Amino acid sequence: MKKLIIAVDGFASCGKSTMAKELAEKLQYIYIDSGAMYRAVTLFCLRNSLISKNIVDVSQLLDVLDELRVEFRYVPEMDKNGTFLNGENVEVAIRSSEVSSLVSEVSKIKEVRETMVKLQREMGKNGGIVMDGRDIGTVVFPNADVKIFVTASLEVRATRRYKEQILKEPNITLKEIKANLNHRDFLDQNRSESPLRQAADAIVLDNSEMTPSEQMSWLLEKINEKIAKI
Ligand code: DC
Repeated sequence: MKKLIIAVDGFASCGKSTMAKELAEKLQYIYIDSGAMYRAVTLFCLRNSLISKNIVDVSQLLDVLDELRVEFRYVPEMDKNGTFLNGENVEVAIRSSEVSSLVSEVSKIKEVRETMVKLQREMGKNGGIVMDGRDIGTVVFPNADVKIFVTASLEVRATRRYKEQILKEPNITLKEIKANLNHRDFLDQNRSESPLRQAADAIVLDNSEMTPSEQMSWLLEKINEKIAKI
């Protein structure tokens, strides 16, 4: 059977990654979290003082961009793939609030996007992949076999993220999380390079009122409908 390319795009914290990962497992496909790649570049900038007062030193970053190695590797202790930056497992470090609050600044840089998109296309060239992000169905794989655009209300997304993040950062507040999501959504939708857009041929999934299992049944039904037409 043809190995499909499945693109999952949508707003921050709407459960894309969890859903895309589970879907990939069910189909025995590769799962790629493209947001993790932008987060890894952001972490690199932070560690190398390439960001000051929310402003990225683009020219210094571009000098080293080609040498950055961002990849996914299986980590036995985690029993899942982790994000690696220049050979180091940064899966935990890239999820900090500091990275979350600056990643939009880094991901709006044209050359960063071009470099990441090239890597993403390489990862998906043989199909059998579920990739989630913001521009997967519009830019990375405009010919993807299935495109899903996920959304949920800001309130629901912020509450979900808060429950996750409070375990890692006990001082974080719901208000801060809501503000960060709102800000990131705005920047993601309004940047000039590959803004977050719903592809014309995407299937919209609003999961505000859905349980994870309802969502998975919905998704598999839609994917089977698509497969039947291929
Ligand atoms: O999916 P995420 O929230 O971990 O993504 C982190 C950031 O990376 C997000 O705010 C926007 C950016 N991003 C992007 O610009 N393009 C993608 N394909 C994936 C993420």
